[in-house]
Amino acid sequence: MKVRYQKFLSLSLACIVLLISQTPSLAADSPTRFFPTKDLMRVGVYYYPEHWPQEQWDRDFAKMEELGFEFVHMVEFAWAFMEPEEGKFDFAWLDKAVELAGRHHLRVILCTPTPCPPVWLAEKHPESFLVRADGRRYEHGSRGNNALADPSYLYFSERIITALGRRYGQNPIIWGWQLDNEPNAPPDYSPSAQDAFRKWLKERYKTIDVLNREWGAAFWSMKYNTFDQITIPNTALLYGPSPHAVLDFKRFTADQTGRFLNSQVATLRRHISSDQWITSNFISTIGSSDPRRATDLDFTSYTMYPVSGGHNLGEDGFRLGWGPGMAFAPPFYKSIKGITGVMELQPGQVNWAWINPQPMPGIVRMWLWHAFAEGDSFACTYRFRQPLYGSEQYHYGIIGPDGVTPSPGGLQYSQVASEMRMLRSKYDPAAKPPASYTARKTAILWNHENLWNIDQQKQTGLWDTWGHMFRYMDIAKSFGAPVEFPTEDKDFSAYPVLIAPAYELIDADLVKKWTRYVEQGGNLILTARTGQKDRNGHLWEAKWAEPIYPLIGSEISFFDLLLEDGKGEVKMGSATYPWNVWGDVLKPSQGTESVATYSNQFYAGQTAVTYRKLGKGSVTYMGVHTRDGRLEKEVLKQVYKRAGIAIEDYPEGVYVDWRDGFWVGVNYSSKPADISPPAGAEILLGTNPLKPADVLVWK
Ligand code: GAL
Repeated sequence: MKVRYQKFLSLSLACIVLLISQTPSLAADSPTRFFPTKDLMRVGVYYYPEHWPQEQWDRDFAKMEELGFEFVHMVEFAWAFMEPEEGKFDFAWLDKAVELAGRHHLRVILCTPTPCPPVWLAEKHPESFLVRADGRRYEHGSRGNNALADPSYLYFSERIITALGRRYGQNPIIWGWQLDNEPNAPPDYSPSAQDAFRKWLKERYKTIDVLNREWGAAFWSMKYNTFDQITIPNTALLYGPSPHAVLDFKRFTADQTGRFLNSQVATLRRHISSDQWITSNFISTIGSSDPRRATDLDFTSYTMYPVSGGHNLGEDGFRLGWGPGMAFAPPFYKSIKGITGVMELQPGQVNWAWINPQPMPGIVRMWLWHAFAEGDSFACTYRFRQPLYGSEQYHYGIIGPDGVTPSPGGLQYSQVASEMRMLRSKYDPAAKPPASYTARKTAILWNHENLWNIDQQKQTGLWDTWGHMFRYMDIAKSFGAPVEFPTEDKDFSAYPVLIAPAYELIDADLVKKWTRYVEQGGNLILTARTGQKDRNGHLWEAKWAEPIYPLIGSEISFFDLLLEDGKGEVKMGSATYPWNVWGDVLKPSQGTESVATYSNQFYAGQTAVTYRKLGKGSVTYMGVHTRDGRLEKEVLKQVYKRAGIAIEDYPEGVYVDWRDGFWVGVNYSSKPADISPPAGAEILLGTNPLKPADVLVWK
């Protein structure tokens, strides 16, 4: 009896812990407490006081306030000004800047300045720089080039962070902290990284025999006798290094960055008030570091430059920007801790792309509204003043080179800041998401390990792992679905539809979880490449991707890849769709429908897409990646329809979302779009049809 009672007790406890961890609003330490919903989205700006004469600071902060900014971001690159000589700190100038910002009603985001150690540190500890794949060590004069396992770099980092935390950790003007800048986990071949990698491997595999097995070290006599013999797999030097070793090095590098940020959190937390939050700003689609590994941040934020030389969609796409990226980042980053914001959003022309066009008039405002619609709690722009010197001279700011005249993007930020105030006055705390909107909630299962593993063995140069996922995300968005990015450990049952695009690395537990999800009513969509390998990238000693056969109700006979100009065709009903990137050739079992078939090549007539009912739900397997995604969209339409989920059909490039009582529509498509708000809707901003680069907000 006692044993059973204890079991019950620990089970209930586990349930409570699970509930708290999964329900952000219930947990006392949830980051949602830093961002009251009624504030909707706060708007702020980067400022570098160390770049400008002190006499101009007051004028600059006054201008920020006048333009409507609510917070200012400072010092991520200013270590040399805060510790000009080893152990000699100078914060008098920063005290003044913070105080002036406060006087102009700006909250301050302070940063840890770890991307730019001062020259004295470089001189004394050249080993604190990371080493490239070709053996060359980086040097002083840039940023973000340090060896994250180097003891001297870590020692001095901790010291400056402690000094900052002590000085500003209780200052009410400080809103929160950003750690480092765009932590992007570049591969490091330095001796400190080498040591840390060996330790990491030892922790993971315990014995060298296990490592040899998991790295497939029998191949090409790679076999090691001890962990000390292992060197970092260097893709620049080695012909065909073990993909399993490379996967581990990527994991290690991302972990190392996560650990670096977590240790900064621990240092700061010892000194700062619990009212101040801590985040870091990841590049929105960063492939090297994994934002989910910085587990101790209060939340993760991201940076975004939508117009930076890409064609994007339609004739004006190069000026309208990258809609899918804008639609992806907020829900992806928000899925991590329940809060996110864009820490850098382009204010105008940038300097670093191959070609740097002028963004379309009005588009900066539209991006800001899109960031709001997708769930950001704040939007901060890079940067206030255009710099007069340094490597970013051609980069627009909110204010032009004269220091006083707002740029077109600056005026648009100002407009949104005042529109946001208007919207706050219309905010209704009782507003609930419409049932038809939540009914189409779609989850996308995505992780960096699949990305890393696929990208080192693409098998066709035409394959684009991010692009494959974006295709499915964009289809769901065109249906008007709210999209979220839960991790595997989350409860999928909250999502009527779950898409796992190219989910290559799996295990039996995941297949069981997917199966249970479907049996209980979920609609699962798996796509090409899913399930081919185990978690360390080994093929199964079985038929190709066999562990998913019972779930998809089909075998995968083989896959084919065509050349750039290949003219593969798939037929569904009477329509034909061209493909050339990837084609799984399927053999459906009894009870599984063949939804689309190949209509040429030597396997004409065989299946490309399957659908089956299982329990209360359905499983779709999309074996083909077509040229334009039309087939994928048609198949998904059927899946939602058969599941009884009502969907919209917005044109490509048009995104419509509901947020805190407001509907927001934006248009990246180069063509006006009719998105007809329902009769009786109160239009708060804009007009229908929605012009490109414009916004429609209604409630
Ligand atoms: C970002 C970076 C900023 C600035 C900006 C220029 O990637 O975090 O510091 O360099 O680019 O667009």
